[in-house]
Parts: sequence; C-alpha cells; structure tokens
Amino acid sequence: MLFNLFSKNSKNTSETSPYLTLKVREIIKETPDATTIYFEQPEPHLEYKPGQFLTVIVELNGKEERRSYSLSTSPFVDPFPGITVKRLDGGLVSNYLNEHIRPGKKITVMKPMGNFTCDYHSKHQRNYGMIAAGSGITPVMGITKSILINEPASKVNLLYGSRAEDQIIFKQRLEELQREYPGRLEVTHQLSQPSESWPGNKGRITAGSIKTFAEGMLHEGPSEGLFYLCGPNELMELATETLQNLGIGKEQVLSENFYKAPETQNESQVLESAPLHKQVTIVLEGETYTYEVAPGKTILEAGLDENIDMPYSCQSGLCTACRGRLISGEVSMIEDAGLSENEIAQGYILCCSSKPKSGDIKITIE
Ligand SMILES: Cc1cc2nc3c(=O)[nH]c(=O)nc-3n(C[C@H](O)[C@H](O)[C@H](O)COP(=O)(O)OP(=O)(O)OC[C@H]3O[C@@H](n4cnc5c(N)ncnc54)[C@H](O)[C@@H]3O)c2cc1C
Ligand code: FES
Repeated sequence: MLFNLFSKNSKNTSETSPYLTLKVREIIKETPDATTIYFEQPEPHLEYKPGQFLTVIVELNGKEERRSYSLSTSPFVDPFPGITVKRLDGGLVSNYLNEHIRPGKKITVMKPMGNFTCDYHSKHQRNYGMIAAGSGITPVMGITKSILINEPASKVNLLYGSRAEDQIIFKQRLEELQREYPGRLEVTHQLSQPSESWPGNKGRITAGSIKTFAEGMLHEGPSEGLFYLCGPNELMELATETLQNLGIGKEQVLSENFYKAPETQNESQVLESAPLHKQVTIVLEGETYTYEVAPGKTILEAGLDENIDMPYSCQSGLCTACRGRLISGEVSMIEDAGLSENEIAQGYILCCSSKPKSGDIKITIE
C-alpha cells in the first residue's frame, strides 16, 4: 500500500480554513484492535466540544481518503486531543491508522464538528444513560468525562457492549473514573463472546438488557433520563425503539451514526430519476462557483468533479461535514440522519446526499 499523510492538493490551513495539520504526540494501544492517537495541541489550541469528531484526510494508493473519527478526549480534562480508531476487517483507513501512525507524524484533518454533544452546567442534576458498543464508546468517553467534571450533581450510567474481555476499549480508564467519582458512574459491560470466567452480562445487547438498564437508572419516571446512543445501526434502532416504548421522549435521546450500509435501490432511484443537468451555485469561503449537476450525481460529487474544494467526510449523510444552507431552489435529500430537526427547519442540507430538484439552486457553505 502506498501512503502519504497529505492529500494531493495540499490544504489551506489558515485560521478561516476548515483544514488543520495536527502532529501526533502519542499512540496508545487500547485493545488489539483499537488505538488512541493523541495529538500535540496546535496553536491556537484545538477548540472542540466533547463528542465531536475530526475528519482525517490521508492519501492511500494515490487517492485521497477521508474518514470521521470522534474525539475520545474531553477538552475539560485531557491536555491533548485524541481520537480512538477501531480496526475494521478489510477497512482501508482504520487499518492504516492502527498500523502506520507514529509519534511525530503530521496529519491533515478537518476542524471538529458534530452535534453529538452536551450542554454542561454545574447546576445540572441529570441522570444520563449512555448505550454504546464497540468503537461507539469513543464520543461517549469524552462526554462522560466532561459530565463528571462539570456537573457534580449529575450521574452517568453506561451500558457498553463488546465482543470479549480483551476488546473492551477504555476498561481501565472507566474503572479509574469510577474510583475518582464514587457513586456517580455506573458501568455495565455486556460481552457477546466472553470467556467462561467472565462474571458479568453475557450475550448481545437485547431489548431486554436495554429495558433493565433504563429502568434501573430511572427512579423518578421516564422524563428523568437523557440518553446518548452510539454503536452499530441495529443496536441504535433497538435502543431507540425500546426507550420509546418505555415512554422516553424523542428529545431525551441523542444518537451518533458511524456507518450507513450502501444505498438501497430506492435511494439510488431518487438520484437517478432526478431531472437532468441542473445548475447549482455554491458560495464557499467567500468564493462563488456555478456548475452543472449531471443525472445520478449528488451536489457534492459534481462539485468535486469540478475541483471545487468542498468540505466532506463520510459521504453518506451522517457526519454533516458537507452541510450547506439552501438559499434558493429545492433539493431531494436521501439521507439527513446527521442533521437535527432544527437545522432542517433552518434550511440546512447535506450536499453529499442531495440532488437538485428545481433550477436556481443556491447554497452557502460556512
Ligand atoms: C461521525 C462519525 C464518527 C466516527 N467515529 C469513529 C470513531 O471514533 N472510531 C472509529 O473506529 N470509527 C469511527 N467512525 C467510522 C469511521 O469513520 C470509518 O467508517 C471506519 O473506520 C471504517 O473506515 P475504513 O476505511 O477502515 O473502512 P472502509 O474501507 O471504508 O470500509 C470497509 C468495509 O466495511 C464497511 N464499513 C465501513 N465502515 C463501517 C462501519 N463503521 N461499520 C461496519 N461496516 C463498515 C464498508 O461498507 C466496506 O465494506 C465514525 C464515523 C462517523 C460518520
Ligand atoms: S460528507 Fe458526511 S454528511 Fe455529507
């Protein structure tokens, strides 16, 4: 595999640019399959909210690859920002980051973004429920540390699913936090393939385990909890449904999606059946670009074909890196999971999953 930590078109990393170069400070092997990459603090220091993610940009085999990785650190606790990457079978970037990154390397990233975060207040007396599995623990870890330090009267309950004992990311750090904040952090590990001697919960996380977990933490009724979900899609769907059945309101549940399976036929048909060649105008960093979007292409794909340096990361509607505001015209958006209802109401769209529906499309990207 040929690799290069910088993209072919080197990025403008001025203060207003969405790009940044970070220097790797330290690498910590969390499990055989997961590594935390800590970065030196840039100047000025990296501003981020716990739970947000960085988009890592690497060039592999001559092609620029971008992937999102949640910051597993807390700006209130950790002196250096870090991401934790779990190796995926056959995964290009996750294996590369696990195998080839060393202290001193420089990595191009997009500045932190994402809505999977929390508003902290020392007066809050909240009861938080975190449901995570596998690499889904990464944003949850940053959020949990931030709650524990900022909200002395709040409690955090974590249900965390892993495959086996040696796959539990942050096991030791979670135990340290429990000792540091007695009675304020409850952790329930659940292992799908534990050893014979594992004393804890066994099997995959089911509706039953979510119900037991939620009922165990809610002493004053369903309106008391605030839930954060991050893990495989099936788990998040199951957790969302189970919490709803317990009477927990939609506004009490926040989730972060790491992955969307390749688009279904219906979704691709939305793109294919959209009207032919529509003109789109993009305002990006003070520059205006006008280009045509061909049938089957998204607004982002067509813009990248024109060599416009549009921001993006997951290209599947999850991360919001490509977010823009629709000033005029209409688009069809096949995936909007990354946007909040409020953002949609304000006219935000995701360029990676939008196709022009009308003429006279104008979008600003901030
Ligand atoms: C907002 C956001 C935050 C994220 N945070 C983290 C994080 O903190 N830590 C972390 O390890 N990952 C995180 N991810 C996932 C990460 O961005 C990559 O998707 C993941 O590392 C796989 O990339 P890859 O290049 O190794 O795999 P690829 O080469 O892109 O894919 C290999 C194969 O796996 C499938 N696939 C890709 N991603 C997944 C997935 N997540 N689950 C199941 N199958 C998949 C693909 O369809 C393909 O068949 C996050 C994703 C998003 C959108
Ligand atoms: S690039 Fe991630 S939502 Fe569009």
